[in-house]
Amino acid sequence: MQQNKSLGIETTCIHGGHTADANRAHLTPLYASSTYTFDNVEQGVNVFSGKEEGYIYGRFGNPTIEEVERKIALLEAYGLKDTSGNDLQLYAILHASGMAAITTLLLSNLKAGDKIISHPSLYGGTQEMIDKVLPSLGIGTIIVDMHDYSKLSDLIKTDAAIKMMYLETPANPTLQCIDLQALSAIGKANNLVVCVDNTFSTPLLQQPFKYDVDFVIHSTTKFLNGHGTAIGGILIGKDAGRMNTDVKKMHRLLGGNSNAFDAFLLSNGLRTLSLRMERHCSNAQKVAEFLQQHPTVARVNYPGLVSHPDHAIAQKQMKDFGGLMSIELNGGFDACVSFMNKLKVCTNAVSLGTCDTLVSHPASTTHCGVPREHRLQSGITDGLIRMSIGLETIEDLIADFGQALLN
Ligand SMILES: Cc1ncc(COP(=O)(O)O)c(C=O)c1O
Repeated sequence: MQQNKSLGIETTCIHGGHTADANRAHLTPLYASSTYTFDNVEQGVNVFSGKEEGYIYGRFGNPTIEEVERKIALLEAYGLKDTSGNDLQLYAILHASGMAAITTLLLSNLKAGDKIISHPSLYGGTQEMIDKVLPSLGIGTIIVDMHDYSKLSDLIKTDAAIKMMYLETPANPTLQCIDLQALSAIGKANNLVVCVDNTFSTPLLQQPFKYDVDFVIHSTTKFLNGHGTAIGGILIGKDAGRMNTDVKKMHRLLGGNSNAFDAFLLSNGLRTLSLRMERHCSNAQKVAEFLQQHPTVARVNYPGLVSHPDHAIAQKQMKDFGGLMSIELNGGFDACVSFMNKLKVCTNAVSLGTCDTLVSHPASTTHCGVPREHRLQSGITDGLIRMSIGLETIEDLIADFGQALLN
């Protein structure tokens, strides 16, 4: 199914990217095959050289995987136009994980001597990748507060080595938001490759390509799959030439390809994305309002609260405020341990975006590889708890948090 603005986004979640199966299967089946056959040597030559369409080898492509790639590309492009006024065409490559998608993104766009400019409070794995792995390849990073636009512009202008702007909004786990329109404009004015991790929002709530960014990544492990059944990541770009050449080449050579089973699970999860996001958002808003007025809670970071410092930015670029929040308790780390151990309905686990509510302690889990000083500067204190609010009955969630907060 091609993009068609007369079809709703819910219809796109369900039918987008589907092509009729040769055997009339209702759902695209799992193509569990590592390689594909050719009728003769000549056909093999033609498929390899791109003269003829066809599958070659599982690391290069697979029909189950490609259906999901088309669906997610349609969702990120939904309702957007290119500079000529045509429906925006996007190209997506599914990876084995969010980190694999990020690695392809970084290594296909940067070389020794280049620098990335980014902001505090990134997903811990991304932070470790840019702090610990990229420097050994000669790629540097500058982390700055991206709320001060003139300072940021001046900084970029003074350093010609800065080639990429990497953004995550809302950011993991502090839920800080940054202005995609303003930052992308600064990035583009300085010829930077602008990239956005859109994992927390999904294309249902936020579409970074609206602001002319170059690449979007998702950990599909999270809301896009929605059921916690498979690790995955997707890299989406708007430049067909680049996506089909150097980006695709890097993906194939790094070998972080997905597989048919995980793609099938992702495809099924996506069919209910719009319904799930509605409930994630409405439950999270109610939980945030409940926690905000609770005497034992020192702070609630949820972009849907007017008290959130970036509420106006979130309101401008997000259709709703998502299912993630983080909180700090008055009693610090000890209170946080006691709270988490008392939860009965909510689950103590890392990851996010599943149907059930997951609660985790970033400092000791997802961000344990980030040096403490660096963590604290990013707002990731020892007493911060991250919560991914699920689809349970709201009264059950509020009762569970209420009893766990009692001393
Ligand atoms: C915002 C964000 N980006 C990227 C990743 C990495 O994704 P994955 O665990 O699928 O490799 C995560 C994982 O938690 C994340 O939260």
